Amino acid sequence: MESMWLLSSTTTTALLLFLLSCFTFTSTDAYDALDPTGNITIKWDVISWTPDGYVYRHIQAPGWSLGWSWAKKEVIWNMMGGQTTEQGDCSKFKAGQPHCCKKDPLVVDLLPGTPYNQQIANCCKGGVLSSWAQDPANAVSSFQLSVGSAGTTNRTVKLPRNFTLKAPGPGYTCGPAKIVRPTKFVTNDKRRTTQALMTWNVTCTYSQFLAQKTPTCCVSLSSFYNDTIVNCPTCTCGCRNRTAPGSCVDPDSTHLASVVSGKPTDSPLVQCSSHMCPIRVHWHVKLNYKEYWRIKITITNFNYRMNYTQWNLVVQHPNFDNLTDNFSFNYKPLMPYEGLNDTAMLWGVKFYNDFLSSAGPLGNVQSELLFKKDKETFTFDKGWAFPRRIYFNGDNCVMPPPDAYPWLPNSTSRTQVFSSLATLIIAILASLISLIN
Ligand SMILES: *[C@@H]1O[C@H](CO)[C@@H](O)[C@H](O)[C@H]1NC(C)=O
Ligand SMILES: *[C@@H]1O[C@H](CO)[C@@H](O)[C@H](O)[C@H]1NC(C)=O
Ligand SMILES: *[C@@H]1O[C@H](CO)[C@@H](O)[C@H](O)[C@H]1NC(C)=O
Ligand SMILES: *[C@@H]1O[C@H](CO)[C@@H](O)[C@H](O)[C@H]1NC(C)=O
Ligand SMILES: *[C@@H]1O[C@H](CO)[C@@H](O)[C@H](O)[C@H]1NC(C)=O
Ligand SMILES: *[C@@H]1O[C@H](CO)[C@@H](O)[C@H](O)[C@H]1NC(C)=O
Ligand SMILES: *[C@@H]1O[C@H](CO)[C@@H](O)[C@H](O)[C@H]1NC(C)=O
Ligand SMILES: *[C@@H]1O[C@H](CO)[C@@H](O)[C@H](O)[C@H]1NC(C)=O
Ligand SMILES: *[C@@H]1O[C@H](CO)[C@@H](O)[C@H](O)[C@H]1NC(C)=O
Ligand SMILES: *[C@@H]1O[C@H](CO)[C@@H](O)[C@H](O)[C@H]1NC(C)=O
Repeated sequence: MESMWLLSSTTTTALLLFLLSCFTFTSTDAYDALDPTGNITIKWDVISWTPDGYVYRHIQAPGWSLGWSWAKKEVIWNMMGGQTTEQGDCSKFKAGQPHCCKKDPLVVDLLPGTPYNQQIANCCKGGVLSSWAQDPANAVSSFQLSVGSAGTTNRTVKLPRNFTLKAPGPGYTCGPAKIVRPTKFVTNDKRRTTQALMTWNVTCTYSQFLAQKTPTCCVSLSSFYNDTIVNCPTCTCGCRNRTAPGSCVDPDSTHLASVVSGKPTDSPLVQCSSHMCPIRVHWHVKLNYKEYWRIKITITNFNYRMNYTQWNLVVQHPNFDNLTDNFSFNYKPLMPYEGLNDTAMLWGVKFYNDFLSSAGPLGNVQSELLFKKDKETFTFDKGWAFPRRIYFNGDNCVMPPPDAYPWLPNSTSRTQVFSSLATLIIAILASLISLIN
C-alpha cells in the first residue's frame, strides 16, 4: 500500500517530504494593469528526509501540467494524487521499478474517481481548478512524490530547474526556484505546528501572447437609447474564408452533426461569423431609472468543440464601486490597486449557469447587473455606460473601437434633425393615407 509506505517512512527520521503549493488567480497578460498580482506561485517545502531522497507534494493551477528538469540524477519512486505522463528509461534499476526516471518529468493530475489509496488532499480533479476568487477551496491542487538519488541533507538537494506550467496550453513562463523562509504547517487539530526543512518558491507568469497569437474573445455592444448593435470587430479572431468551407460551421448546415462530432481536437471549430471568435460577450445597456441603471451581459459560445465549466468573466467599469444587485451570476469585487474598486469577477451559479455549453441553442449564459448612479460621474454620453475591459477565463476580449459605440440620440444635433425630419415626413404620409381612406 503506497499510503502505508508513506506513513511508515515518515516515522523513520530520514524521510524528506516536499510540499509544493500554489496560489492561483485569474490569469491575464503578464503586464496586465488590471491584474498585477496574477502570477502563479509554486512553493516547495521540504518537510523531512528519506534515506536517499524525498517526497513532495504540490498545489497547483487551472487545467495544469507541471514539468521541470532535475538538477542531478533524481528519480521519482512513487507518486500520490498525480502521475508523470511517461516513465522513461528505468532499465538500470533491477529491484523495483521507479515511477519515473526521466530527467524532465511532466506531471498531470489524476482523474476524479481515483482509488482512495492513491489520493491525497486537493488532488484528482483532472487538472481542473477554479480561480482563487471564484472558489478558493477548489483553487488548489496537490500531488506528492518520493524522490530518490537526491541527497539526504538540505545541502546536497539541488533545486530542480526549468519549470514549465501548462494550463492546459502554453502561456506561462516560470522563473527559477528560490529558497525562501521555511513554511509552517498547523496540524488538523491545530495543537501542533511543524516546520518545513526547506522551502522553495517558483513563480510562473501568464502571458496571453505566449498562449495564443490571435484573440479568442470579443465584445459587442447595444443600448436601449440607440437601435444600433455594435458587433464584434470584423476578423477579430480570424477571417471567414469562403473558399475554405471547413474553416467554420454554418449553423443551418444540414450535416452539422457529422461535422461537429468529428474527432475532438484542441483547435476550436467555430460557428461562421464575421468575427470568428469562439466567445462573444455582449453588453446591453438595458434600462434607465431615476437612481439606478441596468445592464444585461450575455456570453455566447461559438465553439462546437468546447464546453466551459466554471467559466469566469472579469469586467472593468467605473460604476462597479456602486453595484447594487447581480442577477444569476456570482459577483466578487477585485481590487487590482488599493482603493480602486472598478473591477469585478463574475461567474456562473452552480448547477444553473456555471456550465457554458458548446455552440448551439444552449450555448449562452446571461445575467443582469443593477448599478446605483453616482451623480458626479454617471452619464450615458460618450460610451461611458460600456465596459472598459472584459476578460473571459483570463483572456482579453477585443472591444469595438470607441468611435463605433452607440451614441446617445441627442449627442449630435445633426442626427436628431434627420430623425425628427423623418418622423415629420412619416406623420405627413400617415395623415395623407388616412385622408385617402
Ligand atoms: C509577477 O511577475 C512579474 C514578472 O516576473 C513581476 O515583474 C511581478 O513583480 C510579479 N508580481 C508579483 C505580485 O509577484
Ligand atoms: C534549462 O533550459 C536551458 C535553456 O533552455 C538549458 O540550457 C538548460 O540545460 C536546462 N537545464 C536543465 C537542467 O535541463
Ligand atoms: C539546512 O538545515 C540546517 C539545519 O537543519 C539549517 O540551519 C539551514 O538553514 C538549512 N539550509 C537551508 C538552505 O534551508
Ligand atoms: C515566495 O517567496 C516570496 C519571497 O520570499 C514571498 O514573499 C512569497 O510569499 C512566497 N510565496 C509563497 C506562495 O509562499
Ligand atoms: C482561403 O482558403 C484557401 C484554401 O485553403 C487558401 O488557399 C487561401 O489562402 C485562404 N484565404 C485566406 C484569405 O486565408
Ligand atoms: C458538451 O456537453 C454536452 C452535454 O453534457 C455533451 O453532450 C457534449 O458532447 C459536450 N461537448 C464537448 C465538445 O465536450
Ligand atoms: C467595492 O464595491 C463593493 C460592491 O459595491 C463593496 O462591497 C466594497 O465595500 C467596495 N470596496 C471599497 C473599498 O470601496
Ligand atoms: C450575487 O452574487 C453573490 C456573491 O457571489 C451571490 O451570493 C448571490 O447569489 C448573487 N445573486 C444572485 C441573484 O445571483
Ligand atoms: C459609490 O461608491 C463609492 C465608493 O464605495 C462611495 O463613496 C459613493 O458614495 C457611492 N455613490 C453612491 C451614489 O452610492
Ligand atoms: C446610434 O449610434 C451610431 C454609432 O454606433 C450612430 O451612427 C447613430 O447615429 C446613432 N443613432 C442615433 C439615433 O443617434
